[in-house]
This record gives sequence, structure tokens and C-alpha cells, in this order.
Amino acid sequence: MPSATPPLDPMPREEILAGVRRFPLWFYPFDLGQGVVVETTESALGKVNPDGYRRKHGPFWDQILAAAGGSLEGLRVLDCGCFQGYWSIEAARAGAKEVVGFDLRQDHVDQASFVAKAIGFRNVTFRRLELFDVEQLGQFDVVLLFGVLYHVDSPIELLRRIRRVTTKLLAVNTDVLPLDEAVIQLRYEDTGMHLNSATGSLVSIPSVSAVVRMLRHTGFGRVRVLPPTTGAYQRWERAVFLAEPHEGPSPEPPPAGVWSAGAEGSKGYGEKKLSWVPSGLDRAPLGAIVARKLRRLFKGLPTPRSET
Ligand SMILES: C[S@@+](CC[C@H](N)C(=O)[O-])C[C@H]1O[C@@H](n2cnc3c(N)ncnc32)[C@H](O)[C@@H]1O
Repeated sequence: MPSATPPLDPMPREEILAGVRRFPLWFYPFDLGQGVVVETTESALGKVNPDGYRRKHGPFWDQILAAAGGSLEGLRVLDCGCFQGYWSIEAARAGAKEVVGFDLRQDHVDQASFVAKAIGFRNVTFRRLELFDVEQLGQFDVVLLFGVLYHVDSPIELLRRIRRVTTKLLAVNTDVLPLDEAVIQLRYEDTGMHLNSATGSLVSIPSVSAVVRMLRHTGFGRVRVLPPTTGAYQRWERAVFLAEPHEGPSPEPPPAGVWSAGAEGSKGYGEKKLSWVPSGLDRAPLGAIVARKLRRLFKGLPTPRSET
């Protein structure tokens, strides 16, 4: 763990305890200070071990900090879809000068605000805001887009807006399809669940390569896919991307490259059409589907092609 910024102006213990009782759901294991540590009461899948969250997701955060030079010292950080503010607080602990978190669900904003106040981080604030209105918040050195990209219906438009507010580094942590092809699957999800989309129920799950392409298309360069660390990351169902704003022409491949890729098998109009991709029962021979499912059962799958 990087050095924690010492809390400023911590809340009295009794007030912290009253606040903990006020919020019924604790998704993250928070150390609120004054000896009050909240255990995780619920995850999307039920009760989980409080240490499990850090074990599962901690390594990717350490990778991001390492990529940022070991800390977020002196940087302004934006945490999109902040939920209970866990990563906002971690950013403050990593030295960020100022952190703004936002979420469309007011109860999340209230709980995150309570957490920051309890611990004593006065430089961490939370706002109720729709993701697609992110530009209202101005620009930030580092933008965190964790657990959000697969809860929207228009990921390209969201990344385009996020590009406008990012000056140094964007970190994306998202569910992905463990496929090589640059594809996006449309799914419906229950907007009644506190972790899901807070607006429409149609959402889109991208493959690793699709995320890379979307980042390049929306004006990011130096796109990196971080090596997988634990569980879902190793199964390539979850992945972390770092990207830097890119000035000038998009670093997408020139049209000639696309033409030559297409010339191999799709009459030269561009890349292979999706109908040539074994992505569903109607398209793939049964053997290919079974082989893919068997591969997914094992850890340490090869990195899906990602063009980085
Ligand atoms: C899966 S949670 C991710 C929470 C946190 N960033 C993390 O990685 O642990 C998704 C969050 O995005 C918020 N959210 C969903 N749709 C939103 C929208 N359209 N505008 C703002 N927030 C949204 C949800 O309320 C939820 O808190």
C-alpha cells in the first residue's frame, strides 16, 4: 500500500457508529477510523468475506498506482460511478490533492460523503450526477472509470465525454467478454439493483479488443491492458486498461491496414464481418463452443488479442 495521507479532522467515534447504523448496506470493507471497521454486509452475489474485496481487487489498484509513478501525489482525481466511495478514498490515501466522486444514486452519494467525513478527508467530495453529464465537473488529471463501462448503452459516447475531462491518465476497470474479436454484446440488466445501470436497462459488454478500439477512437493513446492478477481478471471476464489522452489524429490503424486485413477473407471491404466470427450457437460449430467453454474453466487463459 502506498503511504496514506493522514486523516484531517476525524469524526467522533459515536457519530461514526450512528452513521454506520444509518446505512443498511456496506459493500466494501471500510476502516472508518476511531477503531470502527465495517465489514462487508452484502455483495451482488450475497455475503462475502470482508478481506476478500481487497484480495480480489487490491492488486489491480497497486498496478495502477505503479503505472502512475507509485502515488497520486498532488493530482486531481475523478471517480465516475463512485458507489460508496471506496476508490475515491483509496485515491486520497494514495496522495491525491483533490478527489471528486459522482454517482446518480443519491443514497450512494450520501453514504460516500459520510465515509469521507468519518475518515476525515476534507479533500474528497461527492456529487449526484449522470455519467453522460461528466463534462459539468471540469477537467481532472486522473479519471477512474471502475465498474461502469458495462453498465451503459453507449460506451463510445461515454468515453468521448470522458476524454474531454481527462488531462493525464484514464484507468478503466470493466467486465469484458473473453473473446479475441472486437465485439460488444448487448444485454439487459435490472436497474433496481444498486450496482447496475441507474438509467436504462440495455447495457453493453465489450471484449478486450473492443475497449482498446473504443479508447483509441475517442482520442486516447498509449492504451495498455494490464496483466491479469486474480480470479475474474485471470479468466479475462474482467480487465483493466490504462490510456492517456492523445492529441492530434487518432492512433487507429490507417484505412490501408483495415483493407489488407479484410482482403484475407472478406472480399476486401474491411475487416471480417461478424457473421464469420464464432460468437454464438447460431454461428459456431458445437465443437468450437465446447472448446471455448472448457478453456474458460482453467485459469491463466492467454490474453485475448488486444492490439496494444
Ligand atoms: C458496479 S458499480 C461500480 C462502483 C465503483 N466504481 C467500483 O468499482 O467499486 C456502478 C456504479 O455506477 C453507478 N451508475 C450506474 N449508472 C449510472 C449513471 N447513468 N450515472 C451515474 N452513475 C451511475 C451505480 O449507481 C453504481 O454505484
